[in-house]
Amino acid sequence: MSKNILSMLDMRDDLGKIIDSALSLKGGEGKKSTKKPLNKKNIVMLFEKPSLRTKGSFAVAIQDLGGNAVYMSPEEVQVGSRESASDIGKVLSRYFDMIVYRAFSHDTMLELAESASIPVINALDNLEHPCQAVADLMTLKEKKGALKGIKLVYIGDANNVCNSLILGSAISGVNMVVATPSSYSPKQDIVSEGKSIAVENGCSIEILTNPFKAAENADAIYTDVWISMGEESYREEKEKAFLPYKVTQKLMEKADKDAIFMHCLPAHRGLEVDAQVIDGQQSVVFDQAENRLHAHKAMMIAAR
Ligand code: CP
Ligand code: NVA
Repeated sequence: MSKNILSMLDMRDDLGKIIDSALSLKGGEGKKSTKKPLNKKNIVMLFEKPSLRTKGSFAVAIQDLGGNAVYMSPEEVQVGSRESASDIGKVLSRYFDMIVYRAFSHDTMLELAESASIPVINALDNLEHPCQAVADLMTLKEKKGALKGIKLVYIGDANNVCNSLILGSAISGVNMVVATPSSYSPKQDIVSEGKSIAVENGCSIEILTNPFKAAENADAIYTDVWISMGEESYREEKEKAFLPYKVTQKLMEKADKDAIFMHCLPAHRGLEVDAQVIDGQQSVVFDQAENRLHAHKAMMIAAR
């Protein structure tokens, strides 16, 4: 296991174990357990962007595991303007045992992690959202019984969540299909890396432009916001480009009859997904949100 979890690739050899550990923590080894693997550990949560799920679930996960969580807001730290990420990494390493960091840029994430002498967990940046993808793969395993051979279809913006799901699917043996407009395709290096890992694990990563074709026989349909945090100036052009990629009931009907609907939240009903779908029977979005808590516990135990 690498010191840091900045990418799904850092969990390449341990992802299956981390998912199973998250499932068993959920199954009772969690809150009431007398085992406190983070006993007396001080963990800082450094956030450059807003958060509900990540901040809340990490704070509770740290407490449940016997550790102490300290939150530092964007306003007080001002990464890159008040102080460099590199200096921040060095200073935090003198006080804390682990850093949970939400950054605007993956380069800043790398700079801070490089300078820190303690483990850093990526709590989202512009390139990846590994904490989300671990919870999502855990949810898929929980709902579908296994990961190998299932079909996960991601429809919409090929963003940080999509990138981590591509890598996580390839590592886990999940067949993943992404449907995006051609001008918003996933990053080529992520796709190439995902495809080559998928070959080793007997699954596939496919990039399409037609959402209805992509959705055929899916076990899960996933979408995320069209405008990620920090992309607000592209709102008009992106909302226009992504309109045909809205997840509707009609699109859900192309999937397997037992397919689940997934979204990392926050969601915008009427934009990337219709209310009928996200609030309907097939939706597991609040299970995904809950599973962040269990997934973060397993990730911190692996990284400590
Ligand atoms: N899904 C997710 O990471 O949510 P927050 O931005 O609220 O943490
Ligand atoms: N892609 C979204 C995920 C939010 C949890 C964003 O980066 O804003």
